[in-house]
Amino acid sequence: MFSPSFVLSIAFSALLNSAGLASAVPTGFGLRPRDATALTADQLAAFAPFTQFARAAYCDPSKIQGWKCGQACDALPGFQPTLTGGDGNAEQFFFVGFWPDQKTVVVAHQGTNPDELESDLTDIDIPKEALNSTLFPNVPDGVEVHSGFADEHQKTASQILDEIKKLMTQNSATSVTLIGHSLGGALSELETLFMKLNLPNSTTIKGVTYGTPRVGNKDFVTFFDQQISDFTRVNNEHDLVPIVPGRFLGFEHPKGEVHIVSPGNAVACSGDDDATDSQCTIKTVPNILDGSVANHLGPYEGISMGTSACV
Ligand SMILES: *[C@@H]1O[C@H](CO)[C@@H](O)[C@H](O)[C@H]1NC(C)=O
Ligand SMILES: *[C@@H]1O[C@H](CO)[C@@H](O)[C@H](O)[C@H]1NC(C)=O
Repeated sequence: MFSPSFVLSIAFSALLNSAGLASAVPTGFGLRPRDATALTADQLAAFAPFTQFARAAYCDPSKIQGWKCGQACDALPGFQPTLTGGDGNAEQFFFVGFWPDQKTVVVAHQGTNPDELESDLTDIDIPKEALNSTLFPNVPDGVEVHSGFADEHQKTASQILDEIKKLMTQNSATSVTLIGHSLGGALSELETLFMKLNLPNSTTIKGVTYGTPRVGNKDFVTFFDQQISDFTRVNNEHDLVPIVPGRFLGFEHPKGEVHIVSPGNAVACSGDDDATDSQCTIKTVPNILDGSVANHLGPYEGISMGTSACV
C-alpha cells in the first residue's frame, strides 16, 4: 500500500483542507449549485480504453516495448509504442506511441507507485511556482502550480514533445491524447496545457486523468479552462487524493470532473470543485475521514491501477 509518509501527508493536508473550507466557503449562500449529469452506460463504457492506457503506464518499459504488458496491452490491440522512459522511482514511467484506432498520438504517465517512497515525496512538496516560460510560453502572470509536479513534468517535457511531433508527421495525425493516474494524472494535466501551447493550433488535444490531485492555483485553473476544451478528470467513489492539496492552500481543480459514485453509476460535474453538488467529489469526500486510499486504485469500472496486471 502507500508508504506511511504519503498517507500521513494526505491526512495532514485533508484535515487542514476541511478546516480551511469552513471559513473560506460560505456554503449554501451565494453559490449557484453546479449541475451533475448522469452518464449513460455507453458514455461510461467509452472510458475503458483510456483507463487501460493509464493502467499500462504502471508496467515496466520492457513490457511496454512490443506492447506485451498483459491485460491493459491486450485490451488495446494495435497500439504502437515508440518511446518509453522513467525509472519508476525518481522519475515515473511514461510511454508515447500511436493509436491507429483513434488516429491519435498517446502519452501516458505512471502514477504514484505505493512502494516507491521517493515518488511519494513528489506528492508532498507543497510549494507553488510559476510555470517555466520556456516550456510554457505566454502564460499570464499569477499562474502557479505545485513545484514538485512542475519539476517532474519538466524532466521529460521536451523529449516527449519531440516524439509527438515526429509521430504526428509520420502518421499524418492531428490529435494528441494525454493520460495518467494519480501523480501521473497531475503530470498529464500539466502536459495537456504544455501541448496546447507548443503544438500547432490545429491540433486536437484531449486529456483524461484518474484520481488526480490538485495541480495549480486559481489563475492556473482559469487559464487552463480557457485553453483546453477536452479534459476529463475521473474520480472513483471516496478516493481522497482529489481533495489534496487543500483549497485553503490555494489549489483548485479545472473543469471536467466525472465522478464514479458506485460501480456503473457516474455523474459529470460541471464547473470547478466548488462544493455545491452532493454527487461530486468535493462534497462526497469533505475531509480525510470520509476518504479512502483503496478507492484511489480503483476499480474504475472494473479496471484497477497498479502493477498487478502487468504480466
Ligand atoms: C526551463 O526549461 C528549459 C527547457 O527545458 C530549461 O533549459 C531551463 O533550465 C528551465 N528553467 C528553469 C528555471 O528550470
Ligand atoms: C494559436 O493561436 C493564438 C491566438 O489565437 C496565437 O496567439 C498563437 O500564436 C497560435 N499558436 C500557434 C502555435 O500557432
